[in-house]
Amino acid sequence: MKLQQSYKQSLQKILQCENLFLFWKGRVGLYAILKAMGIKQGDKIILPAYTCVVVPNAILYLGATPVYVDTSESTYNMDINKLEAAITDRTKVIICQNTYGLSSNLEKINSLAQQHNIYTIEDCTHGFGGFYQGKPNGQFCDAAFFSTQWNKPFSTGIGGFVITKSAKIASNLQQLEKPKSTPTLKDNLSLKTLYFVKRYLINEFTYWPLIKLYRLLSKHNLVLGSSSGGEISSTKMPENFFKGFSSAQAKEGLRNLKTLTEVMKVRKQNANFYTELLKKFNKRHVAYELYENHGFLKYPILVKDRELFLSLAEKNRIELGDWFISPLHPIIGDLTSWQFDAKLFPVANFVSQHVVNLPTNPDNIDRVLAFVEDNINLIV
Ligand SMILES: Cc1ncc(COP(=O)(O)O)c(C=O)c1O
Repeated sequence: MKLQQSYKQSLQKILQCENLFLFWKGRVGLYAILKAMGIKQGDKIILPAYTCVVVPNAILYLGATPVYVDTSESTYNMDINKLEAAITDRTKVIICQNTYGLSSNLEKINSLAQQHNIYTIEDCTHGFGGFYQGKPNGQFCDAAFFSTQWNKPFSTGIGGFVITKSAKIASNLQQLEKPKSTPTLKDNLSLKTLYFVKRYLINEFTYWPLIKLYRLLSKHNLVLGSSSGGEISSTKMPENFFKGFSSAQAKEGLRNLKTLTEVMKVRKQNANFYTELLKKFNKRHVAYELYENHGFLKYPILVKDRELFLSLAEKNRIELGDWFISPLHPIIGDLTSWQFDAKLFPVANFVSQHVVNLPTNPDNIDRVLAFVEDNINLIV
């Protein structure tokens, strides 16, 4: 409990907030917020049409209905011009996201939400360490949830937390803490093994084979994965979903938070290198007006032939990310179980077919830049 407490305090200080709750994963945090907001069967929840499938899943677990809004090509977030048309008198919540660390237009979202008496939740799973109007991400909505899963701004392997300014939501979340199950000894041992592998065995030579092995093993529940077995291919809540946060996770979090400032600085610096390079070749790049808030968890680019680009990256030992290769990542194919009609979201479809994510904290940025330049003709 002591470790969890000091981890909580460190996060509260960084995020400048009082009410903070720890959960096994970010998605569990989202589920808890929705519950704390009283979401029930028949309620409608607006969310981006370019997200991780666990987000609509948390909505569906409560019997509520996800209502998707198409994406903006420049921010990879909800297209604000399409938001109002999605609101009805059954809408209870708008979930906005900071995809790859890029903020949504929170003034407009909050102003619409206030007009219609709707709650807002910020999905900050990519946005820890970034800012919005000078304040740490997560401060502008009724509640926000974060993820500390692998590859997030700082990691506990698996993990999440929630913040809220609302005393009512905080009090409901406190009540919800009680029925949570606790991570098992097996969970903790698995996590510790994975921390070891990540720290000592992952390098440019092992990255791709180990990632593939991890995805395969976790799919078959042979190792603790970001999602358990069939979790993401189903809309049913898995057993033991509503779980708390262990002291092993807190210890790892405290360790990784120590380097956060330096890591964020390096990410921004590397992002600038990418922008300069893309600009030189007249390619699309992250817009300068988005820079100030952006934590640069990843640097998204669009490529003409993703399969080719990814295979070249693997051959050249470049650690590219393939996040959001589907509007409801990582589900490829039929999305009707999530009440998603692909025809209605052309931008999300286009972006998810062409996006790759450049790493912002590689050991050797020069090699990645050289790779990008060598393959510049493949970039949109
Ligand atoms: C946009 C988005 N929301 C929610 C989540 C869920 O986070 P977690 O894996 O911690 O449950 C993810 C996972 O990466 C995500 O990308």
